[in-house]
Amino acid sequence: MSTKYSKIAVFTSGGDAPGMNAAVRAVVRTAIYHDIEVYGIYRGYEGMIDGDIKKLTKGAVGNIIHRGGTVLRTARSEEFRTVEGRAEAAKQLKKHGIEACIAIGGNGTFTGALKFSEEHQIPFIGLPGTIDNDIYGSDYTIGFDTAINTAVDCIDKIRDTAYSHSRLFFVEVMGRHAGYIALYSGIASGAGSIFLPETETPLDDLIDRLNKAAKRKKLFNMVVVAEGNQNGTAEEIAAKVAARTNHETRVTIIGHLQRGGSPTAQDRVLASQLGYSAVHALLNGEKNVAIGIVNDEIAITPFNDAIYKAKPMNDDMLRMAEILAL
Ligand code: F6P
Repeated sequence: MSTKYSKIAVFTSGGDAPGMNAAVRAVVRTAIYHDIEVYGIYRGYEGMIDGDIKKLTKGAVGNIIHRGGTVLRTARSEEFRTVEGRAEAAKQLKKHGIEACIAIGGNGTFTGALKFSEEHQIPFIGLPGTIDNDIYGSDYTIGFDTAINTAVDCIDKIRDTAYSHSRLFFVEVMGRHAGYIALYSGIASGAGSIFLPETETPLDDLIDRLNKAAKRKKLFNMVVVAEGNQNGTAEEIAAKVAARTNHETRVTIIGHLQRGGSPTAQDRVLASQLGYSAVHALLNGEKNVAIGIVNDEIAITPFNDAIYKAKPMNDDMLRMAEILAL
């Protein structure tokens, strides 16, 4: 390992995601193992600007691996988008003697990190922490597995009442502009149809399939709707379907339930691997890169690619979802 650091900082930013705490723990313990002091920046970029920065010990990150949310708290900072805000943040980092930062968050977090390090020459390493799974350079993001398990748990429960009442449910899941949560939770819960931002799903096709299913007496009571899909909200789609069919429709928006809860083992392991690798990446002289996992191997992706390249959906998964729902 070629580069020496004596003080680094770690923070979480943007929407919280289950597993962020496991990543913080891994960063802190790996850094301390290499005789590096670690500071926690509280409330993301907001806390960086305000100087809400405290030293973290090995013990400070004990008993957090199983907790959802983020013990470092988080924020979406408007001030950090300004040159003045970033200059204030740089002053605070310099005051604390911080030589590099590890940022855990999504696309907005990486965009802020890249801008900041270009202006203030402090190296950043990014870890993909978002339930949306929409970051190029990692097959999975921290929090995604927990979020889809929560969504599937909710959908399974809704299915009980949907079946009992012969109702057609439209369940809206999160994901912002990405359909990963919808695709995976839809496949795992056996949804009859999945509305995604990445693909067109004409309403006529759904109605046609509903009518055919009714003729065959096939049970069709679950449609999973990604919040960013092209046909509108689950409420809007359900209203249109109700107006054109005999189905009694209901809508459930799972919402922020998907962001909470104890991380799954998979998210804890992923977060640990990424946190551990982030410290090693810094020591190997990397800067302004995101650490991910691709095909079970650690992958290092320049921020510019992680931020701007779209993460393609697997076409075969999309096709499979359609075939299995027939
Ligand atoms: O990016 C994570 C996410 O949960 C998205 O899926 C969702 O669109 C958004 O954040 C909600 O943001 P907020 O918590 O600020 O309402």
